Amino acid sequence: MSSNIIKEIQMVDLVSQYQHLKVEIDKAVIDVMDSARFIKGPSVRSFEKNLEEYLGVKHVIACANGTDALQIALMALDLSPGDEIIVPSFTYVATAEVIGLLGLKPIMVDVNPDTFNIISEVVKNAITSKTKVIVPVHLYGQSSDMEDILTLAKENNLFVIEDNAQAIGADYTFRNGTVKKTGTMGNIGTTSFFPSKNLGCFGDGGAMFTNDDNLAEKLRTISNHGQRKKYYHSVIGVNSRLDTIQAAILDIKLKHLNKYSSARQKVAANYDKAFSKIESIQTPVRQNNSTHVFHQYTIRINNGKRNGLKQHLNENGVPSMIYYPVPLYNQEAFSPFVSHDMNLSVTEKLCEEVLSLPIHTEMDSNVQNYIIETVKSYFK
Ligand SMILES: Cc1ncc(COP(=O)(O)O)c(C=O)c1O
Repeated sequence: MSSNIIKEIQMVDLVSQYQHLKVEIDKAVIDVMDSARFIKGPSVRSFEKNLEEYLGVKHVIACANGTDALQIALMALDLSPGDEIIVPSFTYVATAEVIGLLGLKPIMVDVNPDTFNIISEVVKNAITSKTKVIVPVHLYGQSSDMEDILTLAKENNLFVIEDNAQAIGADYTFRNGTVKKTGTMGNIGTTSFFPSKNLGCFGDGGAMFTNDDNLAEKLRTISNHGQRKKYYHSVIGVNSRLDTIQAAILDIKLKHLNKYSSARQKVAANYDKAFSKIESIQTPVRQNNSTHVFHQYTIRINNGKRNGLKQHLNENGVPSMIYYPVPLYNQEAFSPFVSHDMNLSVTEKLCEEVLSLPIHTEMDSNVQNYIIETVKSYFK
């Protein structure tokens, strides 16, 4: 394998992705610069509309990033300090961070060891009289089991905010055959357009989705300084906008999202096949009611050798990442929210066993073969 190929390996190849769309994207960016409508220019609403159509949702409200989207979503639900919000213990910090920030209480629950997502039976046991919201995170690109979560939420009069930062484009199928896009099933869905996300911009960006007109209006108002009419502020809000340049870029990339998901799925299928006979590797388990858009291809190494494999890959020029190395409840910032009777053994184990391998839309088969052979060589 030539050293050239080794140099090329990255978790996500954003340079090549840009090169394929360069002419179109450069023109769109220059058009925004020529118009000088950097804030709330026409591309923002145009992108929102196109995303509404793609997702089959009534309202898309763009904002500055995925963390803001979660925060604004919570702010729109008229919660009170101390209200409890159920979140997975195995997720990115943003999901729970905004809960603490708003004086609410994150209740962390364990996840399914195969799908890495929350399980309704576990969530059910965590519900108290203070519980107001469940936040399923569709981790790595696959939907949580939304039908059971939505039923549980309905029975207990709870809101559902889907953290869809990692699964945009994934489809969930209900038992009656209805298919919905992740992020459109709960009261509010949120996403991130961070550059490495499946639909990423060239900086920070995010959005909220809802089918509820009233919530949509609240989300728009809160994200715009709490004003419905300029300089008249009805509620405390924030300043969270998607820049016009980012919206123009996203509008172009959205047209390629399905193709991007297919490319990721192809890479994932190659990895699956290559690792199927390695006993200590558990390849990603597919849920039969969700498609998987593989924001990450995350394997479990179940023989205590995860860190050894990571080092071996690193020594051979193959990057890999641990999403996430520390359970939320072991993070110092979350110590005020941790109770002693927490039983989160799955999260604990996942933090020791998961490893994400390079996956992106421009993966070259020579590069992937090299990655596969490097993984295999560790287990020989
Ligand atoms: C699951 C999850 N939630 C929320 C976020 C926050 O998004 P952003 O980085 O755009 O604030 C991310 C992004 O990394 C994420 O992966």
